[in-house]
Amino acid sequence: MQKNINIRDFEMEKDFDWIFLLDSYVNATRSRKEVQEEIQNYSGDIYVATINKKVIGFISLSYPFWDKVAMIDYLAVEENYRKQGIGRLLIHHVLKRAQELSMRYVCVQTGLWNLGAINFYKRVGFSLRGVFPEYEGEGNGMIWLDIDIRKNSEASKQKL
Ligand SMILES: CC(C)(COP(=O)(O)OP(=O)(O)OC[C@H]1O[C@@H](n2cnc3c(N)ncnc32)[C@H](O)[C@@H]1OP(=O)(O)O)[C@@H](O)C(=O)NCCC(=O)NCCS
Repeated sequence: MQKNINIRDFEMEKDFDWIFLLDSYVNATRSRKEVQEEIQNYSGDIYVATINKKVIGFISLSYPFWDKVAMIDYLAVEENYRKQGIGRLLIHHVLKRAQELSMRYVCVQTGLWNLGAINFYKRVGFSLRGVFPEYEGEGNGMIWLDIDIRKNSEASKQKL
């Protein structure tokens, strides 16, 4: 487990270049302008994980549905820092935030091809809720997962 990791609110001017780099791991085809516009118009909260002031991960949480369901729209950890517990820390940060807002569920969607992310979400306590095999066309499916914050044992272990 890495030490000296800090999680704080995203700041556009300071952090955008890092975020753009991290986003390219997930969406290599998007231009800087597209990502910038999307982040500027994003209506949820974005948090970054830093080590010695360098951003090495980010996560977001939005509230698009009802007053009990929050959604993770972005999550990425820099390649060199993966499998060191940083993704889990970011998840715990947003679960805590969702709990403060009296949300009950946090959900996430990801590509069916993204087995690494699916396994990660399961490891940190999410459950499979739905599979949409042809969401974006044949062979391009999507999967929904969620976590019940009140019931989740990881969450209670961490005393969110
Ligand atoms: C998914 C991602 C955020 C995970 O971050 P991470 O910092 O490596 O995750 P952690 O080290 O906190 O892992 C937590 C647990 O998940 C497991 N895990 C993480 N990545 C995994 C993978 N690719 N395959 C299987 N298990 C994985 C870890 O082994 C650990 O398990 P444990 O319970 O035994 O400790 C990171 O791989 C990433 O940025 N991927 C590219 C972007 C992406 O796909 N984002 C999701 C889009 S929705």
